Amino acid sequence: MVTPRELKKLAKEHGTPLFVVDHDQLRKNYATFKKYLPRVQAYYAVKANSDPAIVKTLYEAGCSFDVASMPEFEIVHRYIKDMPDKERQDWIWDKIIYANPIKANEALQQLNQYKPLVTYDNYEEIRKIKKHAPQAGLALRLKVPNTGAMVELSSKFGAAPGEAVDLIFAADKAGLTVEGLSFHVGSQTTNFGNYAAAINLAANVFKEAQDRGYTKMFLLDIGGGFPAPYDDSVRPFRELAKVINRELDRLFPKKIQILAEPGRFLVATAATAVSKIIGKAVRDGKLCYYINDGVYHTFSGVIFDHCQYHLKSFKRGPTQVCSVFGPTCDALDVVSLVEQLPPDLKLGDFLYSENIGAYSHASSTWFNGFPPAKVVHINL
Ligand SMILES: Cc1ncc(COP(=O)(O)O)c(C=O)c1O
Repeated sequence: MVTPRELKKLAKEHGTPLFVVDHDQLRKNYATFKKYLPRVQAYYAVKANSDPAIVKTLYEAGCSFDVASMPEFEIVHRYIKDMPDKERQDWIWDKIIYANPIKANEALQQLNQYKPLVTYDNYEEIRKIKKHAPQAGLALRLKVPNTGAMVELSSKFGAAPGEAVDLIFAADKAGLTVEGLSFHVGSQTTNFGNYAAAINLAANVFKEAQDRGYTKMFLLDIGGGFPAPYDDSVRPFRELAKVINRELDRLFPKKIQILAEPGRFLVATAATAVSKIIGKAVRDGKLCYYINDGVYHTFSGVIFDHCQYHLKSFKRGPTQVCSVFGPTCDALDVVSLVEQLPPDLKLGDFLYSENIGAYSHASSTWFNGFPPAKVVHINL
């Protein structure tokens, strides 16, 4: 991981706000995922951070990709444009899942030529896919427990287990092929029981489909949700992997392909944000620092991702509770109301936040005229 000394040097060289991506850490995270889940092919959820250099590093490491929009599809597709047509089609089928259960007609029309694997979870989507992307293969997204996840997704997506097999037969009747099942246990899931419950639920749907005569399914996509080690309360990945491997081996024969869509786990620990103090005030007796990055920018995860990032100073010494605000005029631009920082920091001093690679820079805006942080890639 990048050291504080290197960060400071990079901030001086490139200016702030700065977003430093460490590609060694990306490769390490991918290797950890493969090591502990050897049966599972990782499809990186590009939405977590769609920087093309990140996609390239993971692509070269052997990763596949989960995309949820045509622009994300294009980011991945550009690496394979030079392949002969046949190879490219096989590659897309094997390496990309379009895992947005709700797709615009235009996206389906563009996707159809690639014979992609897409997710769905309702009857209207079957009609759309039949009309606009009849060459697509399907994975039915199931609604599964999201208990204890930092970001719940089950209220927005997923077929209820009771209607799952009917939805499989409806797609089959429409002439489409349902190749398997998918689910998402919720992002930053520290309740490992969610995975066990979801894998069991998926196994029941597989069995019911088989019992009723549908035998074309050969894949299970266990989604994202693998937690990043933001703090010590997150138990090690190998413990989660143990639960997942046990349930997969118990319930799914080896011939069933297992996919996953990790986003946060691969990219969160691979980036660090460096910002500069641009203002300092005491309000109601509390010291407030104003920095040149905020929730409309790299710290967008505070709002959209329900994530609290901590700020560190390069200066050592006694600390006190401070507030840290972003640079815009909006009162919503609060990075943190409780940070332990030295009280004697000066304008121009740097602060940094680790483990900020996921759902951060990806949703930066230009609000108030402040541009997104500059991105620097190290260990490429
Ligand atoms: C369909 C889908 N797959 C994968 C992910 C990535 O999840 P995570 O970053 O929690 O691994 C998401 C995140 O919202 C998602 O919606």
